[in-house]
Amino acid sequence: MRKLAIVLLAMGCLPVAALAAEPVKAEPVKWEEWHAGNSIEDTSSLQRGARNFMNYCNGCHALKYVRYQRMADDLKIPTDVLSRDLVAPGSNALSYITTSLPAADAVNWFGKVPPDLSLITRSKSPDYVYRLFKTFYVDPASATGTNNLAYPGVAMPAVLSDLCGVNQAVFRQDGDQKLFDHFESVVPGTLTPAQCDDFVRDTVNFLDYVGEPTQIERRTIGIWVVLFLILLTWLTWLLKNEYWKDVH
Ligand code: HEC
Repeated sequence: MRKLAIVLLAMGCLPVAALAAEPVKAEPVKWEEWHAGNSIEDTSSLQRGARNFMNYCNGCHALKYVRYQRMADDLKIPTDVLSRDLVAPGSNALSYITTSLPAADAVNWFGKVPPDLSLITRSKSPDYVYRLFKTFYVDPASATGTNNLAYPGVAMPAVLSDLCGVNQAVFRQDGDQKLFDHFESVVPGTLTPAQCDDFVRDTVNFLDYVGEPTQIERRTIGIWVVLFLILLTWLTWLLKNEYWKDVH
């Protein structure tokens, strides 16, 4: 019995001893597995996302299938806040959310016209947009001075660097492949990493809503539809018993 206890103890201690002897090599950061973790039911997050979008994205990107008023109704944004803080100059509550950036200037500045983002989370997923904003890094060889892991060679500048800071990417050599290892902060942002994370998550959440504005309603109605179907099944079963009573 004592012997067994010693063996068990040794087994438990061995890996610890091995770790202590050799310096621990940190695992590469698996950014491909990051998830946005956004929730379309979180109305405050959607409201913050709308604010973020208008302040940080609308200068270049439009949401051409969404009207301001529809957005305000869905996200419970009061009309005075909508007209005061969100509606762009030259637009009104019934306008579609366009951008004031002329396409020709965009081509001059970025080499491309920034795409309309109405359906971006449907075509590329909320997780993709989240990863896009979490993986900008300094790259002096690129025209914008930054590059991106989720979209290598992206023409969009790192528009959140004042908030989220500037990162350097550390790569490691694996055979003849250059693989991403981790980020190192070069300049910190005005937000903490956790706040930056929330900022991106809220913005992605808003774009997720924009991709299918009826999804909040659809989910609520869905519950009632299922309850109704259960009730109907029960009634049909009672009716069937009634019809077959004489036969059985
Ligand atoms: C200064 C202009 C500018 C601002 C501001 C800007 N973008 Fe962009 N964005 C671009 C350009 C240019 C592209 C096209 C990039 C390309 O295809 O290389 C782009 C592309 C994108 C894409 C598409 C990527 C893909 O895979 O096709 C997404 C998503 C996006 N932007 C989201 C945002 C969000 C969210 C914000 C606000 C936080 C924002 N952008 C702010 C210029 C901008």
